[in-house]
Amino acid sequence: MTDLLNIDEFRGIFLKYTKKAYEMLPKINKPYILDIGCGSGLPTLELVKLSNGTIVGIDINQDALDKLQKKIERMGLSGRIKIMNISLYNTNFQDENFDILWEEGVLHILDINKSLKECSRILKPKGFLVSFETIKWMDKSLEMFPNYGFELIDHFLLPEKYWWTEYYAPLEERIKELHQKYKGSKELEILKSHEREIAMVKKDPKEFDCGYYIMQKIK
Ligand SMILES: C[S@@+](CC[C@H](N)C(=O)[O-])C[C@H]1O[C@@H](n2cnc3c(N)ncnc32)[C@H](O)[C@@H]1O
Repeated sequence: MTDLLNIDEFRGIFLKYTKKAYEMLPKINKPYILDIGCGSGLPTLELVKLSNGTIVGIDINQDALDKLQKKIERMGLSGRIKIMNISLYNTNFQDENFDILWEEGVLHILDINKSLKECSRILKPKGFLVSFETIKWMDKSLEMFPNYGFELIDHFLLPEKYWWTEYYAPLEERIKELHQKYKGSKELEILKSHEREIAMVKKDPKEFDCGYYIMQKIK
């Protein structure tokens, strides 16, 4: 979808929380980090800033990966970030490969058992899995993590209705401005699809309240 709205700019306001979560981990020198479902790479590029390690980003959306690849080249980060079009379900990474697994908004769309099994396999003993998910999803999924050797060691919640106040409300304003500009053109459909998403969130913004959850592989 054309990025008419410059979604990255809105999504970028969440990176202060990526930073906060990263800083809650013990210091690891040159960590090997996997960003699961990296998309166009906002968390990936933040992780490269926060650590002195190497990041592998995986996703199954080639358009998003192409966008990220361009950013990596433009920023001269090819030596520190590798991206791959593979699913978390079939990564082929070696066992106990990574120090940190990072995922922002991905696990809830996947099969939790298959995902956690693979996460546990590719993470080093005592390694960390950091998840950014809705509180609602995590509340019902949390009991699954110990089945795969993970223990919740820390977490924090974003301020209530954060998605609405910081992301969707300003996005709605931007859409209103663009309606006039794109009147009668095919781009209007893109604006409408975002409006449908906004209507869903507006109905019940608390449903989208979320947090960062830090798990450690203890078994
Ligand atoms: C909500 S987006 C989050 C993107 C990015 N983490 C961020 O926070 O901006 C979810 C991402 O998960 C990716 N995804 C979906 N299924 C996947 C799978 N089986 N393996 C890896 N990534 C997957 C999607 O293509 C999408 O880019």
